[in-house]
Amino acid sequence: MSETLPAAHQPVLLVEAIAALAIKPDGLYVDATFGRGGHSRAILAQLGPQGRLIALDRDPTAIVAGAEIRDPRFTLAHAAFSRLVEVLDAQGIGLVDGILLDIGVSSPQLDDPARGMSFRFDAPLDMRMDTTQGETAADFLARADQSEIEEVIREYGEERFAHALAKALVAARRGQRISSTGQLAALVASVVRTREPGQHPATRTFQALRIHVNRELEELSLTLPQALGRLKPGGRLAVISFHSLEDRIVKRFLRDAATPAQPPKGVPVRAADLPGPRVRLVGKAIRAGAAEVAANPAPAARCCASRKRSEMARLNLILLVAVLISALAVVSTNHRARKLITEFEREQERMRALDVEWGQLQLEQSTWATHARIEQIARDKLGMHAPRPTQLLVLEP
Ligand SMILES: C[S@@+](CC[C@H](N)C(=O)[O-])C[C@H]1O[C@@H](n2cnc3c(N)ncnc32)[C@H](O)[C@@H]1O
Repeated sequence: MSETLPAAHQPVLLVEAIAALAIKPDGLYVDATFGRGGHSRAILAQLGPQGRLIALDRDPTAIVAGAEIRDPRFTLAHAAFSRLVEVLDAQGIGLVDGILLDIGVSSPQLDDPARGMSFRFDAPLDMRMDTTQGETAADFLARADQSEIEEVIREYGEERFAHALAKALVAARRGQRISSTGQLAALVASVVRTREPGQHPATRTFQALRIHVNRELEELSLTLPQALGRLKPGGRLAVISFHSLEDRIVKRFLRDAATPAQPPKGVPVRAADLPGPRVRLVGKAIRAGAAEVAANPAPAARCCASRKRSEMARLNLILLVAVLISALAVVSTNHRARKLITEFEREQERMRALDVEWGQLQLEQSTWATHARIEQIARDKLGMHAPRPTQLLVLEP
């Protein structure tokens, strides 16, 4: 029933990710980043006849590739993973046993010149993962003002030449639209003169624009809470992240979710009486070894590991963290603590309302003595009207 993995296709951290999901044969799983289906195929191989896998990808070419998998247990949706809840609802699915996110860009995306994601080829400057919608990188560079371009390059590329680059890009576009990867790479190279050995000067700028165009960090931030909300008690979420910006978002989110609730200040509740954390972190973050990265076959068949090698020289520093969490059973709740917290919150709400009322009174008081106020009272309360200019008799002193 399940398909075998094409020999040359080597998804990143395959064994670790599948182990992390602790797949139950009858379970319901989500692969939110189908790509070329490396992880999906491995999940299907572990599922029994009653198991089910829902996969998502925002890239239409991934959806075409997924059509090869003819398996009644498998469903593939063309959607951004930030629409996870919507996709599950559309399938009539509530909670699931496990969710995998192998985030970032895939090798087929980087290796296809037409996608305009790489400075290795001269191609139209597109960079969208979902080519059916959204602004291309060329559109963004034509539209955005200098400060926005600078912010994107600085924040998402962690590029210290962001200011000079934005200035140069805005100057260059006055003459001609920046519409190809070659144009952009040459322009960046003329500004960024120092770079880490082995790294192309445009690496950071390309990464920044791609992250921006695809709203990669927002997508991740929007999806993590949805994923957690859709896990069954004991369900698992495995995230494979690539660069430090994603890594930070994932770690912070999981740390917060794994931290027990704190009582609001002043509420006499013992920590032990409070609800437990929503998740438990399982194991440690795992890094892909150099061997895994090096063991990639021919470019056409490479998947994720090679995407990292081809585009990122800083590979070993930042590559991959798999964070695994297990949702605990519906959190045990202490009734008394809950009640106190609710009362406390109600009181806080009342105080906020009083604050607002106090502010309004102060504002009103400050306007009492103004001409406008006196005129308004005369008009509203006493029925008086200001005379027309012709009715006025001006007396000279
Ligand atoms: C690293 S690859 C995944 C590879 C996959 N695990 C495999 O084994 O072939 C990342 C995939 O996630 C997709 N992707 C990235 N961001 C996405 C998002 N916000 N929503 C849906 N798919 C996304 C990309 O289009 C790409 O195909």
